[in-house]
Amino acid sequence: MSRRLRLAFLLVPVVALASSCRHGGAHTVDIGTYLGGEATLVAAEPVFGAHGMVVSNSGLASEAGNEILRQGGNAVDAAVATGFALAVTYPFAGNIGGGGFMNIHMADGRTAAIDYREVAPLAATRDMYVDPVTGKLTNKSVLGHLASGVPGSVAGMAEALAKYGTMPLAKVMAPAIRLAKEGFVVDSGLFRGMRSDRSNVGRFAGKDLFFPGGEAPKAGSRFVQSDLAHTLELIAVRGPSGFYAGEVADALVAEEKRGGGIITLEDLKRYKPEWRTPIRSTYRGYTLLTMPPASSGGITMTETLNILETFGPLPKYGTAAYAHLLTEAFRRAFIDRNEKLGDPAFVKVPMEQLTSKAYARQLASGIDRMHATVTPAFKTGAEPDHTTHYSVADNNGNVVSTTTTLNGGYGSGVWIPKGGFFMNNEMDDFAAQPGTPNMFGLVQGEANAIVPGKRMLSAMAPTIVLDRDGKVLLVVGAAGGPRIITATTEVILNVIEHSMSLADAMRAPRLHHQSLPDSLRYEDGAFSVAVADSLRAMGHALLRTNGLANANGIMRVNGGWIGVREPRGAGKAVGY
Ligand code: DON
Repeated sequence: MSRRLRLAFLLVPVVALASSCRHGGAHTVDIGTYLGGEATLVAAEPVFGAHGMVVSNSGLASEAGNEILRQGGNAVDAAVATGFALAVTYPFAGNIGGGGFMNIHMADGRTAAIDYREVAPLAATRDMYVDPVTGKLTNKSVLGHLASGVPGSVAGMAEALAKYGTMPLAKVMAPAIRLAKEGFVVDSGLFRGMRSDRSNVGRFAGKDLFFPGGEAPKAGSRFVQSDLAHTLELIAVRGPSGFYAGEVADALVAEEKRGGGIITLEDLKRYKPEWRTPIRSTYRGYTLLTMPPASSGGITMTETLNILETFGPLPKYGTAAYAHLLTEAFRRAFIDRNEKLGDPAFVKVPMEQLTSKAYARQLASGIDRMHATVTPAFKTGAEPDHTTHYSVADNNGNVVSTTTTLNGGYGSGVWIPKGGFFMNNEMDDFAAQPGTPNMFGLVQGEANAIVPGKRMLSAMAPTIVLDRDGKVLLVVGAAGGPRIITATTEVILNVIEHSMSLADAMRAPRLHHQSLPDSLRYEDGAFSVAVADSLRAMGHALLRTNGLANANGIMRVNGGWIGVREPRGAGKAVGY
């Protein structure tokens, strides 16, 4: 092993520790928590639905979506129902105070992507998170009132429903309102998740609701969220203006002011989701519909798969040769991601070039089949989590792939009194100090620097794969920051390249490389001892990390849909 790589090994824990201090220790939850308490693989039986399918990280939210499908709603109606229900039953990541991306493919061939990513508030400044005295990054992009972008979820879901749904907002929101008003029974996963986020949520106004008497509501108890129910009712009646104006907006801005935040009524009034054209790429004759910027998910996946495609049939899953090629492809795609991508309204993104097959051939030609490339420089960061992906399919063949987030678990920790919801800490997805790692260890450049009104670059990758006849094959995506991109790519490769069933594809141990830190992370069982030794000999710095990401997927099969929830965590596939 080279001296440089040995150094990398030694640096990992030290730098990670330093970074967790930057975030005040509030976000150093162990990865198992965001997976619903189970970082180990558990049985996730594939579920069959002849008509429709909803797979999300909350059984109650999947059932909410299913209720709408059974009432005759289409996949978009059901996705919006699931999204609002997640804001109630999966408060780590489900949200109305955050943002997301929804990818839609209608059976009549229409495809659309809606970007309801948060934007930087008008009063945001490039160096707002840099301490003027020390020149070091503070933890304010992660924790507290300054960490939030202007939320986009309500506007985005309402807009998607208006354009592609068939039901009124009040109808699709009815299950979420019921769950907030009447409450639902807390399960052990939710309890453990809440408990582990106390240091963050407990600092702010949500502590009385989420930690009555200092403890998270026990598994088996009923959890009612009256303020949230009221907010959802206002949205159901008034549409987005029930959130972006009136009493909810006033409550949000009052809490921002009280805590030193900068989001104003003007910010809320100006927020607009953006319709985007999905990136359409191909892999061995299959078509991928993925998310363009302001997410990096689609470009990075496309670039990776284009590089891999140049190699002809890939080595078998589990071999050193396969892990090496996958790693080198990810490395190259992430180098571009971290330097070149940002909100297209503010920076020129070379999308055509990055997604072209010719460019992939050029990158592939630089891969040495026997030796790891070293990414220049080495920096890393700690990794908090909570995002959630859900996949929906209906009886007519319409499908929706959505990823939504507050960024960290419970976002910034700030809960809006009377509003009843958590605010995101998405500002940390910007390069708050270009060249310095964010909480996912991503080292990003000027293209993703903070500018008022700009969307922070995301890794969310809600994806739809069409088979060689153009019919939907897969609806998939994940949570896990940059590991979203690698996990989603791997599920797709496992199905297309390695002919696995969806259940096997989701269960197969994952690996991850994001260029910096220059380490190849892998889950238990990914490599035999001999394969691990071979990879080390090639120059890869191996790092075992369980629970790399949290995916939820659907596959079309004869006569219906198969749904598989993340085998490493909580959630449920509900079909009918
Ligand atoms: O948009 C992004 O890329 C991040 N905010 C996603 C965060 C995430 O996935 C955390 N989850 N598990």
